[in-house]
Formats: sequence, C-alpha cells, structure tokens
Amino acid sequence: MTILVLGAAGYIGSHAVHYLISHGESVVAYDNLSAGFSESLKALDIVFVEADIRDTQLLESTIKEHNVDSIIHFAAHIEVGESVQDPIKYYDNNVTGSLSVLRAMRNTGCKHIVFSSTAAIFGNPSITPIPEDAPTIPINPYGQSKLMVEQLLKSVCGIHDMTYVALRYFNASGAHPFASIGESHSPETHLVPLVLQVALGQRPHIKMFGSDYNTRDGTCVRDYIHVMDLASAHYKALLYLREGNPSNYFNLGSGVGYSVKEVIEAARKVTGCEIPCVEAPRRAGDPDTLIADSKKAEEILGWKRDHSELEEIISTAWRWHKEHPNGFNS
Ligand code: UFG
Repeated sequence: MTILVLGAAGYIGSHAVHYLISHGESVVAYDNLSAGFSESLKALDIVFVEADIRDTQLLESTIKEHNVDSIIHFAAHIEVGESVQDPIKYYDNNVTGSLSVLRAMRNTGCKHIVFSSTAAIFGNPSITPIPEDAPTIPINPYGQSKLMVEQLLKSVCGIHDMTYVALRYFNASGAHPFASIGESHSPETHLVPLVLQVALGQRPHIKMFGSDYNTRDGTCVRDYIHVMDLASAHYKALLYLREGNPSNYFNLGSGVGYSVKEVIEAARKVTGCEIPCVEAPRRAGDPDTLIADSKKAEEILGWKRDHSELEEIISTAWRWHKEHPNGFNS
C-alpha cells in the first residue's frame, strides 16, 4: 500500500513525508513546486512527481502506477492576506484542485483521503477554545476555499465509497528536530519565521499587525502547534481510515493561545536577541483569537502533542533558521 502525498515539498507536507518514511510507509511525493522546495525531500529515497493537482490524468496514472490506497492532500495556497487580494487564485487551486483529486480517486478506486483544512473556516469564533461543531463562518477567501473542500469531501465521498478525515490546523510552526528541514515560504508572511529573521538581522524589525484587537494585550491571539505534532496526527488519521472507520473531522491545536507580543517575547528569550518591533495597521482578514479544542482528536485518533510548548516550537525553528539563513538556498 502506498500513500500519495500532494503538496509533499511544502512546509507541513515535507515534515509529514519524513514522519511517514520513519514509520516504514511507502510514499510517492507530488508537488508542482509553486511554493514547495524539492530540497526538503532530497534526503529521502522516494518517487517525486513534479505536477499540478489540477492535472487529473496524471493523478490517475500516478495512483495506478504506484498502487496508491490513500492520499494526504496538503497542496493549497495558504496566505490569508493574499486570498483577500486575489480570491480567484484561491478558489481555482484549492477548490478546483481538490475536485480534480476527488475525480481521480473516484476513477481509480482510491479509497481514503486526509485533507489539510484550517482554523480559518471558523472566522471570528463565538466559542473559545473552538470545538469541531462550532459555526463555520470564514472571514476570508482562504478559509472559505477550505470550507468548500470540506463540503465537497462530505458530498462526494459518501456517494463513491471513499472515506476522508479533514484536519483543521491552527498555527503550524516549529521545525523537524533533526532532519534538515523547516519553515520556508517565499515571500515569508508567517509570524514565527519573520520574528526569527529579525533575530538573525535579516530584517530591521517585526511589524505587529494591529494593537486594538479584543485580546489581553490588543494583539491577535493564536494557537501554535508544532509541525511534528501535525505530522503524527496525519498518520493517526490515515490509520483510522485504513482500519475502516467512518469519515470524520478534527481540530488540531495545543489548546493554549499566545498573543503576537507574547510570541515575540518568547523568541527574545530563546534567541537572546533584542528583536525590535513596531506597531502597524491591522492585516485584512485576521480574527482576534483562534484557539483549538482538540479533545476529539485525542479521544478518537489517540493523538497527543509531544512538541507543542511555545519554547520548543521556537527553539526548533531557531535551529533551522540559524543553520539555513536563506531557507533551502543555504
Ligand atoms: N503577524 C504580525 N506580523 C507579521 C506577521 C504576522 O503581527 O509580520 C500576526 C498576524 O496578523 C496574526 C499572527 O501574527 O495575528 C499570526 O499570523 P500568521 O501569518 O503567522 O498566521 P495566520 O494566523 O494568519 O494563519 C495561519 C496559517 C493559516 C491558518 C491559520 C489558522 O497561515 O493557514 O494560521 O490559525 F488558517
């Protein structure tokens, strides 16, 4: 049995591939390299297919050639701010691309899919921590596109004898503890890598987007979850589906929220660097607070977090940034 990993060269995808290989799984990696880096997989002896998920025929031939029974689908555009500026880009890649994946699964008889969803489907939640059945009212096209795919999964999988798990990640961060991979986006927009680039002297300061949110210090509060804990959740979800369990969806976070100011302060402690910061206007599409209630994943998948203390998240990310100051180009 082989797992086809879509978006395998991206940040979360590459960490999951390393995790799956270390657990003895056979993996085929698939990525169009629009945002991923083939270097993130170079230490592994696996098949790599450079292609787009909207190429249904190539997906079908890849599934057949490698006897793929399950798909883990990370391939998506992920920037909240960009999605507000260019929503069609998000609906095309994220929604049309996922429909292509489901079509290929139906046409080949591939049975299981684990889908990367997001806390952004909840918008500005009325309940905190957020349980799975909280109202889904996204406030940006990125979150809307992921919610649309969850709806597609529900509608299509039931009819065509396929099962799915949707995993709603909160703020993925941190880096692999020993493999030479970590978070690298171009351009970088995420808080933890940007803060560490300031610590490295690559940027003069970090901008704090908004200081008048309805939170304890006025800056946005997020639930930071270590990328290796996300990797283990994907494997648990896959095993759950392979055991014949029904389709399901889970929130994945640490259950603890940190404000932007608190993340910067924690990074100062870990790095010993000053990390200057300046106040900047709000960024479009940002909710005040996102914190997960992940009890369902703990109870049903048997998932537990081993790495998601903020200090460990920042320490592993810091090691990656120091060793690779120019990301995968160094
Ligand atoms: N932020 C700053 N300055 C920066 C960058 C970010 O203040 O230079 C703030 C943001 O405004 C936000 C927080 O830091 O309040 C975290 O921002 P990120 O861009 O790191 O992450 P997001 O919360 O916007 O989004 C991430 C993922 C999404 C996912 C979401 C779920 O990118 O895919 O977490 O919580 F949906």
